[in-house]
Amino acid sequence: MDLFDKFSPIIDAHANLPADAEDPFNVSMDKILSPTEAIIKGRHTILAGTNNYLGLTFDERPLKAAHAALDAGGTGTTGSRVLNGTYAGHKALEQDLADFYGQQHAIVFSTGYQANLGVISTLAGPKNFILIDSDCHASIYDGCRLGGATIIRFRHNDAADLDKRLRRLGEQGSNILIVVEGIYSMLGDIAPLREIAAVKRKYGAYLMVDEAHSLGVMGKTGRGVAQEQGVEADVDFIVGTFSKSVGTIGGFCVSSHPKFEVLRLVMRPYMFTASLPPSVVASARASLAIITASNLREKLWANARALHQGMERLGFSLGASCSPVVAIKIAAIDDAVRFWSELLRAGVYVNLAVPPATPGRDSLLRCSLCAAHSPEQIEKILGVFQSVGRRLDLISETPRDDADAKTAVSRSTPDAAAATG
Ligand SMILES: Cc1ncc(COP(=O)(O)O)c(C=O)c1O
Repeated sequence: MDLFDKFSPIIDAHANLPADAEDPFNVSMDKILSPTEAIIKGRHTILAGTNNYLGLTFDERPLKAAHAALDAGGTGTTGSRVLNGTYAGHKALEQDLADFYGQQHAIVFSTGYQANLGVISTLAGPKNFILIDSDCHASIYDGCRLGGATIIRFRHNDAADLDKRLRRLGEQGSNILIVVEGIYSMLGDIAPLREIAAVKRKYGAYLMVDEAHSLGVMGKTGRGVAQEQGVEADVDFIVGTFSKSVGTIGGFCVSSHPKFEVLRLVMRPYMFTASLPPSVVASARASLAIITASNLREKLWANARALHQGMERLGFSLGASCSPVVAIKIAAIDDAVRFWSELLRAGVYVNLAVPPATPGRDSLLRCSLCAAHSPEQIEKILGVFQSVGRRLDLISETPRDDADAKTAVSRSTPDAAAATG
């Protein structure tokens, strides 16, 4: 017996990846050139799987702010805020977030993963029920498990199923926490928050929305799907991350609950880990200011529409209606691995996701768009998808009729059009 015996199926699956394919779990970026380009295995590569939605990682404003904070405050805080003290920057960032969301309170964490772990596990303990969308991110599941609450999953994006499950709980159902996301990370589909908020009100539950993929991406001022759909007043807790549109690392939760601040004294994933270093805090603040003021969202959505429409025209089966995540569904895992590998060899990097990490049975070639992608880069991505897809016999030689594609896109982009408004 060996402690590692339980991993044998994973070791075997990894060893049995198609011999002619690159290893999808071992991609090494030799050099990052820009938000949309890198050198991978010596090849100039377009990055189309970064979650760097606004392309702020190389923007001179966060870069400059980070350099100055590094010089002034040092490389790290070397401890937790509870023990080592809070830096002025942490407080300023929390105030920025509270102002940005129009909420009373904000708490910053070292990652978005820890934000979910901390808030969910602390709010909902063994005597509570949490209702979560079945497609929620691993950090939400882990937060539920850490707190020991009873987890009830409802069908993805299905407010009627949420209603049914809450009704079944009956009397037991007080102090229930509902957790959903804004844009779902794998397929890029958007939560029907209006319907979910109506159910929340009906049962007097609490609602938490993880806007990890929608901060800076949706809503009039970039606050996310809750803002886009006009339901912010119904959301009790908004969680987010700095690791996507904000272009750095860190997580947060904002709320106007009057007792929210007590969480700082009881959340283990906040208390027992080191706080964000000054340079990260400074770049997050600078990026947040850009999100508030810039038109980058319009560029992002124009790119999303171009890629989505192009993929539809080529005949690929897509995960959802238009959003900055464009997920191409591939039925067989080996086909997906080969496809992904050929893309990489042709200079296009996307994310490969295979079951059980995907919703449903398909594997996904997951693209995420960036405001900084140029029209030429989008054309190149589409061209490479077309040639690899045909070579592997996964799409037909004839692109779908333009008219068909246009109808399909206009049917599928109401949220996109609104988001750029
Ligand atoms: C929905 C969602 N929540 C939370 C996280 C965790 O964010 P972080 O990378 O900051 O830990 C992710 C990251 O992929 C995510 O997709």
